[in-house]
Amino acid sequence: MKKKILIYLKDNKDTYISGEKLSVELGVSRTAIWKNIKKLKEEGYIIDSVSNRGYKLIESESMLNEMELDGLVKKNVFLDKGVFLEQVDSTNQYLKDNYSNSKEEVILVSDEQTKGKGRLGNPWSSDKGTGIWMSLILRPNINPSEASKITLTAAAAVAEAIEEVTEAKTGIKWPNDIVIDGKKVCGILTEMGAELGHVNYIILGIGINVSQMNFPEDIKNKATSIKLATEIEYSRLDIIDSFLKKFKVLYKDFLGNNMDSIIEINRKKSVSINRKVFLIRGDSKVEVDSLDIDINGELIVKENNKVYNVNYGEVSVRGINGYV
Ligand code: BTN
Repeated sequence: MKKKILIYLKDNKDTYISGEKLSVELGVSRTAIWKNIKKLKEEGYIIDSVSNRGYKLIESESMLNEMELDGLVKKNVFLDKGVFLEQVDSTNQYLKDNYSNSKEEVILVSDEQTKGKGRLGNPWSSDKGTGIWMSLILRPNINPSEASKITLTAAAAVAEAIEEVTEAKTGIKWPNDIVIDGKKVCGILTEMGAELGHVNYIILGIGINVSQMNFPEDIKNKATSIKLATEIEYSRLDIIDSFLKKFKVLYKDFLGNNMDSIIEINRKKSVSINRKVFLIRGDSKVEVDSLDIDINGELIVKENNKVYNVNYGEVSVRGINGYV
């Protein structure tokens, strides 16, 4: 009922709706309407109540909860459902434990992660309310060798979404970091369940730093948040909405093996090409000229006059003078 009232108030945002009208339209008692309005207010929705006029929704855009997430999933139809959790160890891990054997394609967003996972076994700092900690479980009918391209697809969608919603200018550090002003604002961790020649599921884990004002000592020189970069606190829901809208289009391209737009965005926004970078494999670190990203998403590099491709997953890329 709470959700129905909210939808009704959203659809009539500029007018007061009387309790009586709501009770007739939604087929419940006026007391039920009043109780649910009270619950919505307790959750943080700002609803003006004026006697003789009724209720008007003043603000709802920045709420991040299951109802709002579900609304976005329905609007951007390509997933089966949206799940919101106040707290979880890791959104990637939760989807793996609960959805790897189902048929559903789901987005999970959590307000806080207690054991956020980064690439290469690193932890991912995910404090409550400060970022977008989300994972999507997808079941593309592809060969496992194609799966790494989905990271580039997500990177393109995140970079464009942040630019659409905020004043920040984003870059992509090949293959899976989004940067603002040379510092990391988003990381992507892609995990896969597969058999020979067949993908069972892909979990796309995306962490976007939205409103932190400081970071742990060990990452503070290379991490930033959208708020640190722009001095504005943006709505996480708006960024997720924009991401889903963009990802939906690019994911369709990816499924149709049409990588042109995805690669074009990655090239245009790349902070890793047309420059010297270090390629790091375990303990080895070689300096190369990074030339381009090819149509398969591989990095084309030149080392001592020898040109070769580097596949995502093989190496880490570091700038000559620091992170980018
Ligand atoms: C990286 O090391 O750059 C990847 C970071 C990925 C973090 C996100 S936050 C949501 C999802 N759940 C996790 O445990 N990790 C990813």
